[in-house]
Amino acid sequence: MMFQTEFNLVGNNTLASSVQADYFYSFSTQEELLWSLENKPEKQLCLILGGGSNIVFTSDVNGVVLHNAMQGITAVDESDGSVLIEVAGGVEWHSLVQWSIQRGYAGLENLSLIPGTVGAAPIQNIGAYGVELCDVFESLEAVEIKTGKCRQFNKLQCDFAYRHSVFKTLEYRGKWVITSVMLKLRSAILNTAVGFQTGYGEIEAELARRNVTELSPQIMSDVVVSIRRRKLPDPADLPNVGSFFKNPIVSDVDFQRIQQQHPGMVNYTMAEQRVKLAAGWMIDSLGWKGREMDGAKVHDKQALVLINAGGGGQAVVNLSECIQKDVVNSFGVFLEPEPLILGAFK
Ligand code: EPU
Repeated sequence: MMFQTEFNLVGNNTLASSVQADYFYSFSTQEELLWSLENKPEKQLCLILGGGSNIVFTSDVNGVVLHNAMQGITAVDESDGSVLIEVAGGVEWHSLVQWSIQRGYAGLENLSLIPGTVGAAPIQNIGAYGVELCDVFESLEAVEIKTGKCRQFNKLQCDFAYRHSVFKTLEYRGKWVITSVMLKLRSAILNTAVGFQTGYGEIEAELARRNVTELSPQIMSDVVVSIRRRKLPDPADLPNVGSFFKNPIVSDVDFQRIQQQHPGMVNYTMAEQRVKLAAGWMIDSLGWKGREMDGAKVHDKQALVLINAGGGGQAVVNLSECIQKDVVNSFGVFLEPEPLILGAFK
């Protein structure tokens, strides 16, 4: 077991930022993880990296990067039409989705093709097309970086919300390694009419286009994959981190004010008199789609996605700040970045 030094992370982040980590180690077992926590050089930063699909490096990492490569998917219990599966943190999210679909298990189909790993999924409570990780989540196992102690977090303790969990709060952020996640899927679908989330407009349209009469996890997954492929760029071709901003949530009163000035504003009504606004629509309506600025570009099919067009993470952040200013000036709304943006750590 050994740390690699001056390790280039270009292949370990989907934005393809070419930055160096002082130390790098990829762990495949709990023992290797504990070894690396005990033996890592004393540096301020100890960063846990999964697929690197929700992180923006703007400079070299002056510290230790630990890459979670723990593998394994096990069905631990099956009863009453549901199945509990335990998945190691380093498993690629989409391989898990495929694994479940091949077995006819339902629950993950709308989350098809999301980049990243299973261990990273709870941190921002990944979501797409009306489903979020928390809908199928049971519990997770994590190791505390400071002490090496193992702990279980149940669903309540994770405090999930839209693109949020306890692991994004100051108290927990960057302090835990998620080593495995327990999910509860459906092994028998009794009523397909209520068994699948088809409410999202684009899904309904694609199902109609395909003349689908009987739903299955496989069909839903195929539909989601084709929608995503149409709008979201493959990081292998166009380096990106998916949505760069969260969709902002405002009060009903603020929404009424904004809508008066911008009647076309795409929005979704939420609980507690709050409204979620489509950040992609706002950015698009200001003419940003397809614009390139100093080596960073707004994707020409989805304005919420920013691409590294040669300038690296800092260029993408500079572009994102221009967009934020424009949106604040025009709509009075602040767009919060979705990925973790890492600056210089000294
Ligand atoms: N829109 C535009 N122009 C654009 C982009 C969007 O007018 O350039 C409009 C669309 O026409 C639509 C609305 O804005 O009416 C919402 O767009 P879309 O359905 O593409 O979804 P989104 O809100 O932009 C969110 C998630 C995605 C997820 C999709 C589908 C966030 C931050 N993003 O995007 O998640 O795949 O919904 O559920 O919530 C990610 O997190 O990285 C991600 C890709």
